[in-house]
Amino acid sequence: MRQKIVAGNWKMNKTLEEANILASEVTGMVADEVKGDAKVIFCVPFPYLLPIKNQLGNNARISVGAQNCSEHESGAYTGEVSAPMLKSMGIPYVILGHSERRQYFGEDGKLLAKKVDVALKHGLSPIFCCGEPLEVREANTHEALVKKQVEEGLFHLNADALKKVVIAYEPVWAIGTGKTASAQQAQDMHAVIRTHLASKYGQAVADTIIILYGGSVNAANAKELFSCPDVDGGLVGGASLKSRDFTEVIKGA
Ligand code: 13P
Repeated sequence: MRQKIVAGNWKMNKTLEEANILASEVTGMVADEVKGDAKVIFCVPFPYLLPIKNQLGNNARISVGAQNCSEHESGAYTGEVSAPMLKSMGIPYVILGHSERRQYFGEDGKLLAKKVDVALKHGLSPIFCCGEPLEVREANTHEALVKKQVEEGLFHLNADALKKVVIAYEPVWAIGTGKTASAQQAQDMHAVIRTHLASKYGQAVADTIIILYGGSVNAANAKELFSCPDVDGGLVGGASLKSRDFTEVIKGA
């Protein structure tokens, strides 16, 4: 059985004080109310990684992740944060290739393959995002695009490296729009991704890869989405910013 993961992507939200309150409220609610063994990750802005990590202490269920890292290991890249820096802070996860990075910061498959490599080299697990924009879904070419994104970002890896990657399918038209993919649409694409992984790495390896769904996941739809056979949890934006909502989403896993 694959580990269920519910990751909150806080994006560029919250002051430090608000971040501390959110993390502490979710931590308390998870301890008191959440059964099962779903893993929770707070993907927080860079400045909050250490404070939130320190606040969590040795929490076995909840860990922290970054939202990006540089493709370079060190050097004159003002404003960037490297994988070795994250590793030195004890950060286990990093989101790579989020659609907002692809769209607003021009990150493409080639760059993302480099970021995946540098993250893995330094012992971080990438949460690698893929997903199609609305016009691609409407043109019915979404499966081809997502397969291409997965190939570009991950297919150069060997099987052992791939097993350290978490994939997040996030259709761009569902992000922050309140328009979530139906459970069937999510399951269909997750199955396409897993079959594509199997075509390269074999079914046994593909069956171990955790594939999260992201895009307007909320307390009302989480359980149905996370019950799909190929959906192993979620990458959650808006609903991860409110402790009660996020806790309810976690309960769905
Ligand atoms: P929303 O849950 O706000 O739609 O955002 C999804 C997302 O982009 C998570 O990475």
